[in-house]
Amino acid sequence: MRIIKYLVALFSSFMVAFPVYALEKIVIHSKNASIQLVLQNDGEGNFHYTVNYMGEEIIAPSHIGFRLNKPAVSLQKFDRLSIDTSSTEESWETVWGEEKVVHNSYKAIKYSMRDRLGSGILVNLYFRVYNDGVAFRYEFPEQQALAHFILGDENTTFKMNGNHTAFWIPGDYDSNEYQYNKTRLEDINAYTASAKEKDIALKSVYDSNAVQTPLLLKTDAGVFINIHEAALINYPVMQLHLNKTDHSFITHLVPDAVGNKAYLKTPFRTPWRTIIITGKATEMLSSRMIINCNEPSVIKDPSWIKPQKFIGMWWEMHIGKANWQKADGKHGANTENVKTYIDFASKNGFDGVLVEGWNEGWEDWFGNWKENVFDFVTPYPDYHIKSLSEYASSRGVKLIMHHETSGSVTNYERHMDTAFRYMLAHDINTVKTGYVGRIIPRGEYHDGQWMVNHFQRVAEKAARYKIMIEAHESVRPTGLHRTYPNWLSNEAARGNEFNNAPTLGLNPEHETILPFTRMMGGPMDYTPGFFRFRLNQYDSSRTTRVRTTLAKQLANFVIIYSPLQMAGDLPENYALYPDAFQFIRDVAVDWDETKILSAEPGDYIVMARKARNKDEWFAAAVTDENNRSVSFSFEFLEPGVRYEATMYRDGEAAHWETNPASYRIEKKKITSRTILPVKLAKGGGAAIHIRRLP
Ligand code: NOJ
Ligand code: CA
Repeated sequence: MRIIKYLVALFSSFMVAFPVYALEKIVIHSKNASIQLVLQNDGEGNFHYTVNYMGEEIIAPSHIGFRLNKPAVSLQKFDRLSIDTSSTEESWETVWGEEKVVHNSYKAIKYSMRDRLGSGILVNLYFRVYNDGVAFRYEFPEQQALAHFILGDENTTFKMNGNHTAFWIPGDYDSNEYQYNKTRLEDINAYTASAKEKDIALKSVYDSNAVQTPLLLKTDAGVFINIHEAALINYPVMQLHLNKTDHSFITHLVPDAVGNKAYLKTPFRTPWRTIIITGKATEMLSSRMIINCNEPSVIKDPSWIKPQKFIGMWWEMHIGKANWQKADGKHGANTENVKTYIDFASKNGFDGVLVEGWNEGWEDWFGNWKENVFDFVTPYPDYHIKSLSEYASSRGVKLIMHHETSGSVTNYERHMDTAFRYMLAHDINTVKTGYVGRIIPRGEYHDGQWMVNHFQRVAEKAARYKIMIEAHESVRPTGLHRTYPNWLSNEAARGNEFNNAPTLGLNPEHETILPFTRMMGGPMDYTPGFFRFRLNQYDSSRTTRVRTTLAKQLANFVIIYSPLQMAGDLPENYALYPDAFQFIRDVAVDWDETKILSAEPGDYIVMARKARNKDEWFAAAVTDENNRSVSFSFEFLEPGVRYEATMYRDGEAAHWETNPASYRIEKKKITSRTILPVKLAKGGGAAIHIRRLP
């Protein structure tokens, strides 16, 4: 091959403004030189990008492109028009988060192209090269050749250089609530994995080789790769479709009811495609690439947004003590019952009480694909919302609203303003939303462009009312909590509540995988803190159980990050272990700093976080089904200062199956030089509260 033109990007910003029809290669190194992005155009209009890490090719030459349905055009060969480079070094303060200050440091290149095959359509590619990987997005700028258009498919590829180990769940248009599978790429089979899952209410798996993102991969040389997206706005969710012959993934966008992917108008920018690459598992968990690729907050005065720890009139419905609906005579959300939750919350320092099953409609809420189910403003007659919210307020607690839409999103959109006003009239400014079941508009999927736009509309409208959101059965996060900090948390994964599922439940390794996969995009409403392990407390026929130790349930408050953290179990179960419950009372939900001490996906995670604006740290470790010894080193503490560590760890004979409630609480004096070894039981964990000594 004859190289006609060879360009190496120099990082004084420069611009090349003439079309290049010749072979071209551009190389950009990350600031610390560990990542190398190579952009190539072969002279025939074929564009490829390659990503190397420490000199090793991680993403082999991979192509890009689009198929438009209207106008019917295939964008696959391009002439390069211009190049513009820049470098960014900035820090920004979070409203809430795993850190107070996030650093954003990258080199960037804008690569402008024109379709070579006749349409004249202009497409710009924006790349960012970080020390921990590469992100890129497409732009369809305002132009003569294109205004309104309908997307048929995006053909971005990510070509792997081997049959890596993958942590994956099936590509599904409606659900992310799967157990993770750990296999080689060539052994991915979404249908087989889906067939094992009997407890997911709605599944839409469409292809045996399709997986969801965030996808975690590990090469045989021990390099970690995470592929996801950032700033998913006005576009469908990206899934990845694997070609097992060459180990390449191609994007598969979730379709709409008539098979199109997106309805767009120039100027338009797609979400970022993010490829995080790290040599250590710990570095993967501290990557901030995804949130950094999102726009700054649109909420100018965020003073009303408050991270919260709360409890819920919730689990008792799941385990059969009560019900959401009134008709069967076991209505949980009655005034007297909710009062006991408010008292419990107030006594133990919780900020709020979530109340599910408060409003009319639950008698036929699920499985009928019915449009008009709830109106979100009519309480059941035995639920006196006015007196309850006054009672809560007199106790320093707030009610948390529940809007289960049962997938009827058209209905919710019609009622949303009234429903938000109703909340404010009752002094409620946080809502848990839910989207169980098939979506209305009928034929739409949870993850299509229509629903992505719905979730954004909810976040924007809620912000106008100064309302905070946490969404269940939602699209999985892509770092948009930077832009909409009132959209605090999401489910969009298999949460702790799945322990109640009759068949698979949760594996002990689940929490060692979630932070590397689903949680790379943002916080999760996991509802940690179950203290009762066999779930036959109210219904002796139940065989389901929680497959962790009690100490691990405490550790999950630190490991599974959410600024809205609900302690999941019943007040009467917390009363069984008041000394262990103290950790839940104490633990923070907003952080100044996060340190990942050691980790291996699927096996264990050890970390520490500093409470926001407080001189207190919380550290935790979780393990999978194996017992293991881990150690906490406290180098992050202020040197020369003595601290007291209160440790909640597994008892000597603890075991998730045979002895889950065995735990020990120990106090130790520590300094920044202390190394503390801890034994974790099978399915176990440890949680530590660290306070400065006077
Ligand atoms: C599913 C949610 O995940 C759960 O938390 C909620 O209790 C039920 N839907 C009812 O809305
Ligand atoms: Ca394991």
